[in-house]
Amino acid sequence: MKRRLVLAPLLALCGCDQVQRIDEAGGSGSEGAVPPAVQQRLTQSCAIPSCHVSGSVAPDLSEASGGAWVSQSGAGGPYVTFGDVENSFLVEKLFEAPSVGSQMPLPPGVLEAVDLALIVGWVAGVDFPDDGTGSGGGEVSYSADVRPIFAAKGCLACHHDDSAVDVDIVDPFSEPNGLVGSVNTWAEAYPEGGTPMLNVEPGDPDESFLIDKLADPYVVDPAIGGAAMPLNLEPLTDQELADLRAWIDAGANDDATFEDVIRPIFGDETRLGARGGKCTYCHHSFGGQPPNLSDPFDPDTGAVGVPSLFDADSMIIEPGNAEGSILVQKVEATEAGAVGGPMPPTYEPLTDDELDTVRAWVEAGAPDN
Ligand code: HEC
Ligand code: HEC
Repeated sequence: MKRRLVLAPLLALCGCDQVQRIDEAGGSGSEGAVPPAVQQRLTQSCAIPSCHVSGSVAPDLSEASGGAWVSQSGAGGPYVTFGDVENSFLVEKLFEAPSVGSQMPLPPGVLEAVDLALIVGWVAGVDFPDDGTGSGGGEVSYSADVRPIFAAKGCLACHHDDSAVDVDIVDPFSEPNGLVGSVNTWAEAYPEGGTPMLNVEPGDPDESFLIDKLADPYVVDPAIGGAAMPLNLEPLTDQELADLRAWIDAGANDDATFEDVIRPIFGDETRLGARGGKCTYCHHSFGGQPPNLSDPFDPDTGAVGVPSLFDADSMIIEPGNAEGSILVQKVEATEAGAVGGPMPPTYEPLTDDELDTVRAWVEAGAPDN
């Protein structure tokens, strides 16, 4: 069927030099083990903050789960039936129109064809390159080494084509806003600040604004260079929470209170940064996460009266009932629970090793490899 047609070229993409059979590796008990190359893809595209990690959306696909999910089942059957991709719900979810729910990963997550092939190949039990890290010979690869860092740190959620934030990191090589070679908007706005002209100057990490943005502790004066990345959004203040509850309890109306009090909390997709609210960089109309909080009253894609993805019996915003609204539960949450992670999500800075990897990639000319 359709899926089989897609599979053949995908598997061919795994052009193999060093290969190893991995499905029978350790004899008994091997079914629980997820090979590092597969785990790396799951970590990069699925086990991201608020998604498939412990305490968030099931299954927990993180490395910490130890592959416990492999022997479990989801709403569409066993996640994995080795040797039988047609009866593996995990594989089904990675293709168009699965029998239950949506195709994964949800935007802005991305799984490249070659990554998809690796996962499907593992389930199918075919041979594939045993080293999925691509860092043979000390060379840094963008797709295998750098992109997983950007994905795991949440950079892609905010920095994508058509988002309220200028720099595209989902496709960093695109014109004119791709991370590599694009002009640093802060240097443009504040030439006297002396920040590097380009976000990434291929071959020169010290002249790349990206590296400044990732330094921990952050070294740039926020007045001339904005915030450190990944942007650590502040949760709502007590006053903002009280205003939100009061507006919902009064009927969540599209009125002056919404415009004056609530919209500044959610944000406005035409403005950037902390000055643009706390939600709409990710929740906007053009391909962001549902719900669209730049128009919360849209009956299909908005929040008011719209059922929650987490709990179809609850509304994201139930007019007159702040307590029962999923949105209120998510902004009040301090840890992941039945309705996913707290909103807005917060991110960890890069580790020293991760920063070294990004530097090494820029130093090597920021190649698309
Ligand atoms: C929660 C949303 C969010 C996340 C997550 C995030 N950013 Fe940003 N980023 C922004 C916003 C908003 C700005 C513009 C304001 C500023 O520079 O402080 C920005 C600006 C930048 C800039 C400067 C662009 C320019 O031209 O001035 C770079 C480079 C950058 N981010 C890289 C990253 C990287 C790399 C990550 C992940 C490690 C990341 N960002 C994660 C929201 C985010
Ligand atoms: C950095 C990106 C980002 C920001 C900023 C953000 N969200 Fe989210 N939001 C997500 C992602 C990813 C999901 C899906 C996974 C989850 O719920 O944990 C989500 C899910 C939700 C949901 C659940 C929708 C449903 O169907 O049940 C609500 C409600 C929500 N967010 C509200 C907010 C609010 C309110 C803010 C601002 C206070 C906010 N978000 C800020 C990324 C973000």
